[in-house]
Amino acid sequence: MKPIVLITGASSGIGAALAKVFAAHGHELALVARRGDRLEALADEIAATERPRPTVFTADLERRDGASAIAAELSSRGLEPAIVVNNAGFGLRGEAATLSRDEQLAMIDLNVRALTELSLMFVDSVARHRGGILNVASLAAFLPGPGMAVYYASKAYVLSFSEALHRELSGSGVHVTALCPGPVPTEFQTRAGLSLPAAARMLELSAERVAQIGYDAFMAGQRVVIAGIGNRLAVSFMRLVPHALLLRLVDQGRAAGAAK
Ligand SMILES: NC(=O)c1ccc[n+]([C@@H]2O[C@H](COP(=O)([O-])OP(=O)(O)OC[C@H]3O[C@@H](n4cnc5c(N)ncnc54)[C@H](OP(=O)(O)O)[C@@H]3O)[C@@H](O)[C@H]2O)c1
Repeated sequence: MKPIVLITGASSGIGAALAKVFAAHGHELALVARRGDRLEALADEIAATERPRPTVFTADLERRDGASAIAAELSSRGLEPAIVVNNAGFGLRGEAATLSRDEQLAMIDLNVRALTELSLMFVDSVARHRGGILNVASLAAFLPGPGMAVYYASKAYVLSFSEALHRELSGSGVHVTALCPGPVPTEFQTRAGLSLPAAARMLELSAERVAQIGYDAFMAGQRVVIAGIGNRLAVSFMRLVPHALLLRLVDQGRAAGAAK
């Protein structure tokens, strides 16, 4: 079986940027998302840089059979992951009690269940190639998020799971990294119904910058990487502040965003 880097959610934003960074460093790729036309366009763009054209196929990872459909596609093409990049994810702004329950559960299916299944499903293959797993968490992993409660909780899971897996697999030559970006202007904000308050915009980094930071940290075997100095300072602050105050601050930030 030929080793590839599997990247989910590569049709836009951070996932597309990660695909370009991995390709530029000579990795062969398999790219997955629901929008096949976007994946084909990205594959053409990468092929135009004289790198091997990535394999692309569509999969809906909110579906229970999403991860096994990916495994079947890879195996039918004689491919297996040396590196798994679990990037696909989305958020929703609004109070948990009033947002659609189905949509919030679909978010858990994608951000948590599919990420877990793809991480565990390919552990043997990744270990064979002494590769690893790069999971995209978020700054949201470090605090509770009134106004995006399920999203923040899903990212806290990603961080916790990835750190524990990093430790469990440390003897097998597999490294697991959690990439924690702060705000990144992508399609994420539109889908989430978000408009960032000015303070959050100061922490913004481009998808390209975040992808490069994630790649470098992953290759260095880092357990967790918080993208950007501003975001690292923000996390240090969050660790010092009692949760009661933090919850009030996040809530005020949400009110400021909603007023825009
Ligand atoms: N942007 C930010 O401010 C920010 C900050 C911290 C963390 N993150 C995290 O970064 C990751 C990437 O987000 P982004 O900012 O790049 O957002 P984005 O531009 O909206 O990209 C999300 C990607 O996920 C894919 N996706 C969504 N639903 C899917 C499904 N059901 N099945 C398969 N793929 C699906 C989308 O592709 P299709 O629609 O084609 O399926 C798209 O490629 C997410 O995990 C997000 O939580 C983002």
